[in-house]
Amino acid sequence: MSDAAGLDEATIQRLTAAARAVQKQAYAPASEFRVGAAVLAADGREFVGCNVENASYGLTICAERAAVCAAVAAGVREIRAVAVVTDLDEPARPCGACRQVLAEFGKDMAVLLVGRGPAVRLLDLERLLPDAFTFERGS
Ligand code: THU
Repeated sequence: MSDAAGLDEATIQRLTAAARAVQKQAYAPASEFRVGAAVLAADGREFVGCNVENASYGLTICAERAAVCAAVAAGVREIRAVAVVTDLDEPARPCGACRQVLAEFGKDMAVLLVGRGPAVRLLDLERLLPDAFTFERGS
């Protein structure tokens, strides 16, 4: 299913593979729900992240935010796309906190959601978080 522009098939495959690879590193002793994420920076570089849980549950870091932090630490300020993979049959949706953090780095970001089943969702971040909070003034 698709309502987002601009991600070619090769990019989709590459981002999905990167997210699937890093998913293996997820640290999820509490939920056993493993998530992998890969972001594509505007400069073409890719960065990955996995979820990192904690005995103090509320300190858990989601895969998407881990990937964003890795990108930002390398100097990235604009992200073109993010892929998120889980082991659910249907593609999972990013949590609200991750949507807001992603929105900081790409108004037109493509979001690729991949589960274990054949259905893949490709959509615009604007659809997941319409009218996000930013420091920019609205019209
Ligand atoms: N999780 C993510 O990594 N990304 C999301 O967008 C939603 C949830 C993680 C957090 C926690 O480790 C596990 O999934 C179960 O909530």
